Amino acid sequence: MTARVLVAYGSKYGATAGIAEAIGATLREHGLAADVRPAADVDRIDGYDVVVVGGGLYVGRWHGDAVGFVRRFEDELVDRPTWLFSSGPTGGNPKAELELRDVLARQPGPPGNVAKLAGRIHPRGHRTFGGRAGSEMGGIFAQWVPKGDWRDFDAIRAWAASIADAVAVPVG
Ligand SMILES: Cc1cc2nc3c(=O)[nH]c(=O)nc-3n(C[C@H](O)[C@H](O)[C@H](O)COP(=O)(O)O)c2cc1C
Repeated sequence: MTARVLVAYGSKYGATAGIAEAIGATLREHGLAADVRPAADVDRIDGYDVVVVGGGLYVGRWHGDAVGFVRRFEDELVDRPTWLFSSGPTGGNPKAELELRDVLARQPGPPGNVAKLAGRIHPRGHRTFGGRAGSEMGGIFAQWVPKGDWRDFDAIRAWAASIADAVAVPVG
């Protein structure tokens, strides 16, 4: 039977939504039935076998919609293969590029509050991807964030393919 996958995301400016769409498209290419939805719009997950949840990073924390999703469905996520991802680090100057490379190589887990929840739902994995920042970003911190797109869609698709492989049911 085709596994049904929900890819839910918390995104303020669309970068994480774009990653979620790419994950969903790759899962479909691998024969899975994937829905990609804003995390805040999801009110039940009982129709899904597998869940992928992602959040944009803001001042060291996941976007609230992704946190709220994990809190809301904690009891059900425990029983489903679940993967998490974060969209955040940006380059743009030599120091930031070095830090970005370090974060992508080191792959820190989800931010503190989510890591705590993750300790209860036991996700199969977490991946941090580079983020995207544009001039539309508001707030007093936004001026310090270099502008550009550091999302690596090859890496995103490869990660999604690894999820598809992990949930694939042998045919025969
Ligand atoms: C105010 C502000 C704070 C941010 N804080 C972080 C942070 O703590 N860590 C990080 O990796 N990225 C941080 N970023 C970068 C965003 O996480 C990144 O641009 C992300 O891809 C945005 O996702 P979204 O468009 O889906 O909301 C910050 C961006 C802004 C505007």
